[in-house]
Amino acid sequence: MTTILGIETSCDETSAAVLTGAGNDARVDSLVVLSQDVHRVFGGVVPEIASRAHLTALVPVVARALTDARATIGDIDAVGVTYAPGLVGALLVGVSYAKSLSFGLGIPVVPVHHLEGHIFAQSLEHADAVPPFTALLVSGGHTLLVDVAAWGDYRLLGKTRDDAAGEAFDKVAKLLGLPYPGGPHVEELARAGDPKRAPFARPMLHGGQRAGDDDFYDVSFSGLKTAVRRARQAPGGETDEMRAHLARGFQDALVDTLVEKTARGAIAHKRTRIVLGGGVACNRALADAMRTRAAAFGASVYTPSPRLATDNAAMIARAALFRFEAGDVAGLDLSAYAARELPGLHAA
Ligand code: KG4
Ligand code: ZN
Repeated sequence: MTTILGIETSCDETSAAVLTGAGNDARVDSLVVLSQDVHRVFGGVVPEIASRAHLTALVPVVARALTDARATIGDIDAVGVTYAPGLVGALLVGVSYAKSLSFGLGIPVVPVHHLEGHIFAQSLEHADAVPPFTALLVSGGHTLLVDVAAWGDYRLLGKTRDDAAGEAFDKVAKLLGLPYPGGPHVEELARAGDPKRAPFARPMLHGGQRAGDDDFYDVSFSGLKTAVRRARQAPGGETDEMRAHLARGFQDALVDTLVEKTARGAIAHKRTRIVLGGGVACNRALADAMRTRAAAFGASVYTPSPRLATDNAAMIARAALFRFEAGDVAGLDLSAYAARELPGLHAA
């Protein structure tokens, strides 16, 4: 059994977790997530403010995680930390702190790619959410469709060509006068909308696409966002009733596209498990539509609870356990990177 302290500071959540385990048998002993509310007034994350907030929050957040786990710092065998991708100043706070702990305690530091954390998140709640599976990662910064043959063996099927799914939700929320982050508000408003009143074309989705075409798995949401803006500015687009129809029309188009592309990936690789990760995986319409579509070819869909879908250090600790067991530890020259390819990712 290995006890890992996980640290996540890639964006606007300061998070620490203690996890104990071996292989797929891992238990979250504690998880503390402190969300930085300060960004709400700016309508988006302000990088410099995020870094400073991590700096003040990280030490008490780690202390709390240790207390909640009834552990002391001496119980920790390794510290896992998100080193990429994300806001580089924010990441540096976590990485520097993790390296200090590593140096001070004489324990290894394990670098974790943020998206690998999202791939592992569901396995903390569902024992069956283990490879092989098809993973759809949909967050504010990323939209990635990946075939996971084994932990650490990732085949890139598709990605967004412009906006990430969460980013599209956030931008449409802004157009509709909703607060940031917009995803949950758009989902709520869409419930009151009529799916037939503001239908939008499904981006990058048509029946003539064949496996091997470069648009077979890729998605694109910026045209959809522009279509929502035009409809909002058109006569009648400003009413409250129409706002709900627009939210519904947008969400339906985005969900249909993601569901169909994910189904294509699962069917092509004969996967019977589909795992959703990232903040947008909290969207009930997406999870329900994915379940209905997957049932048609006998696949199960795993979605994490909101606590583990959004950014958190438990998923980072879990991915760190895997990397630690594989011997992927870093030296004190470990740095933070705004962009870095997912380790183990290869082309289709
Ligand atoms: O994974 P996450 O917490 O942070 C990133 O790594 O980006 O994802 C945050 C994103 C935001 O864009 C937010 O609007 C979106 O997830 N989100 C949702 C929902 N809950 C959060 N999008 C759609 N429906 C939701 N219920
Ligand atoms: Zn994330």
